[in-house]
Amino acid sequence: MAGNWKMNLNHQEAVVLVQKLAWTLSDKRHDYGSVEVVVVPPFTDLRSVQTLVDGDRLSIRYGAQDVSVHDNGAYTGEISAAMLGKLGCSYVVVGHSERRMHHSESDELVNAKAHKSLAGGMTPIVCVGEGLDVRQAGEHVPFTLSQVDGSLDGFTAEQVAGLVVAYEPVWAIGTGEVATPDDAQEVCSAIRTRVREVHGDAAADGLRILYGGSVKAANVGGIMDKPDVDGCLVGGASLQVDEFGGICRFY
Ligand code: 13P
Repeated sequence: MAGNWKMNLNHQEAVVLVQKLAWTLSDKRHDYGSVEVVVVPPFTDLRSVQTLVDGDRLSIRYGAQDVSVHDNGAYTGEISAAMLGKLGCSYVVVGHSERRMHHSESDELVNAKAHKSLAGGMTPIVCVGEGLDVRQAGEHVPFTLSQVDGSLDGFTAEQVAGLVVAYEPVWAIGTGEVATPDDAQEVCSAIRTRVREVHGDAAADGLRILYGGSVKAANVGGIMDKPDVDGCLVGGASLQVDEFGGICRFY
């Protein structure tokens, strides 16, 4: 269960939220043991989160929301994979629809960022998903699979087995309009089938597929019941500890 904080919370607020989350996850009345909990704060929070997680030996993992395709040098505003690795990041979200939309990120660029993340020792969370027009045209499966093909290009089957793909239909993000569990399953299953065709069984079975888009504690259960949904990428609800805690005990 990964919480994408997007551009919310400064480093002090980040520490408070992670402390509260750790407290929630330590509640012995629930078994969180089988759930990997990940927070994805803004870059400026990462050092504080690292210090807290290391200092208190928290089992929470964390990642970054983006990464540069460049290693270093004259790229003002960019953050390299090596910098994120040094900060203890386990994951990097690449190709979020907000970056595809507002920063014109192509599958080619997303693919390059995914490769940089993996080479830097972090697992990319590769985001894919269609907009409303594509969904209404009934083209959501081929559209999303084309993003999967482009974004996962050049990875070996062994590497694909360790990756994470997040299916986030754009029309369900931040709108309160959650895809039905069947909608999520349809596309997540198509993604796994495509990976099976291209990379084989081990890659398809190892790949973790997340659903994202208006996930809340109240709707997570039905989504997680679906066989090809392995977890969720949560936006707004991940900023509220009670909600995110509820999402993490979906079972
Ligand atoms: P919401 O959960 O706020 O709809 O955001 C989903 C998302 O974009 C996570 O990356």
